[in-house]
Amino acid sequence: MDTNHTTQDFQQLKEGADQYIKRRNLRLLANHRKELRNFTRAEASTYLGIDAKTLDKYVASTEIDPRRHEDSQWSIDIEEMYQVRALLPESLRKEIKFERSSKQTAQVIVIQNQKGGVGKTVSAATIASGLATEFHQEYRVGLIDMDGQATLSMYYAPEAAQEGCLSVGDLMMRNFDLDEGETYEQAVSEAFLPTTIPNLRILPASQTDRAIEGWFHEQVFSQQLPSPYSILSTIIDTVKDEFDIIIIDTPPSLGYATYNAYYAATSVVFPLSITENDIDATCSYFSYIPQVWALLKNADHAGYDFMKILLTNHKDSSTTTELMNSLYDHFAPYLYSKEFKNSEAIRQSSSLLSTVFDMSKSEYPKSKSTFQTAQQNSYEVTSQIQRDILSVWREQEQA
Ligand SMILES: Nc1ncnc2c1ncn2[C@@H]1O[C@H](COP(=O)(O)OP(=O)(O)OP(=O)(O)O)[C@@H](O)[C@H]1O
Ligand SMILES: [Mg+2]
Repeated sequence: MDTNHTTQDFQQLKEGADQYIKRRNLRLLANHRKELRNFTRAEASTYLGIDAKTLDKYVASTEIDPRRHEDSQWSIDIEEMYQVRALLPESLRKEIKFERSSKQTAQVIVIQNQKGGVGKTVSAATIASGLATEFHQEYRVGLIDMDGQATLSMYYAPEAAQEGCLSVGDLMMRNFDLDEGETYEQAVSEAFLPTTIPNLRILPASQTDRAIEGWFHEQVFSQQLPSPYSILSTIIDTVKDEFDIIIIDTPPSLGYATYNAYYAATSVVFPLSITENDIDATCSYFSYIPQVWALLKNADHAGYDFMKILLTNHKDSSTTTELMNSLYDHFAPYLYSKEFKNSEAIRQSSSLLSTVFDMSKSEYPKSKSTFQTAQQNSYEVTSQIQRDILSVWREQEQA
């Protein structure tokens, strides 16, 4: 035993890991350059809720040539779809574009469970992309990746690390210099990167964001941070006029990163996959959670607008039904009625770092009907959250 040896061992682990991650990211970038979701003529007319002839008429009034593709199939991508939708008169739109009033505040939803692997990241990505694409109100949606594992960032900002973009950790630890003439507000706004969905932006995490917990401990220990939970909230305040809804993915732990996400949030969604182990772990988390809230309340959190449990990875079986029955016995008012179903299409699209809302049916390598079923289920799951958000906005408007 000697400390020099151990230091060297850890340094070697670090170097091996850094090289591995660098190669893996390069490979991912090379293989998975994400295409924009595209729509066939039939899909486009269903999406917009207009007949094919009306669709042709509005497409013809743009510069878009849907038959430019080599195989001469009719196809437009999601950016073009938004251009066509912008031309529709109100009478033809499925929904009128949402304009948030001064009484309505941006809704910030934290997705959290201290238990790992319960579907936090897949739920955050699916809900955010669903809210952006499946509702014709065109909500301006933001995603924040508070997990230093940076999985969510690989979905929507895979090139961020290579291109030296600021991460949420850089913003929180003030790990950046402003360019000449640049304001802090501009730097924060630009850190929310565009994605393959026009009304969805992401504030990514980077691998170095793992340093965040150590940084907080140092700052708190040296009494340089009187209010250690409110840093993310202050960052969000800077951009709150650019978003209607912000979804925060969190790590499976209860460190400063998670407390900051809880503190910044106006509502909470707890994903919970329906296995005995995950339910046990989540129950022991819930029995501790009043202590988490006591700290947040003490730091002047105003309380949450809604708090829901989203059952994930649901497989139809008698064991699952039994487990669901006992969950309803104890948590009925908090459970969303639609579960996020276990699906091969969700598993496959998440391994392609996509959700069922940012890839096209044609990109899905397997049975198209499996994809469609998963898309329908994800739409139902997202709709429940949209309904909760709308009811908050309705109350704020009436207050
Ligand atoms: N509805 C689903 N159908 C099929 N697979 C799913 C579904 N939801 C999640 N998964 C799979 O479960 C795994 C864990 O999901 P995810 O990464 O979202 O969990 P997490 O809670 O974010 O994990 P961590 O705690 O490590 O951050 C992933 O491999 C994902 O593909
Ligand atoms: Mg995760």
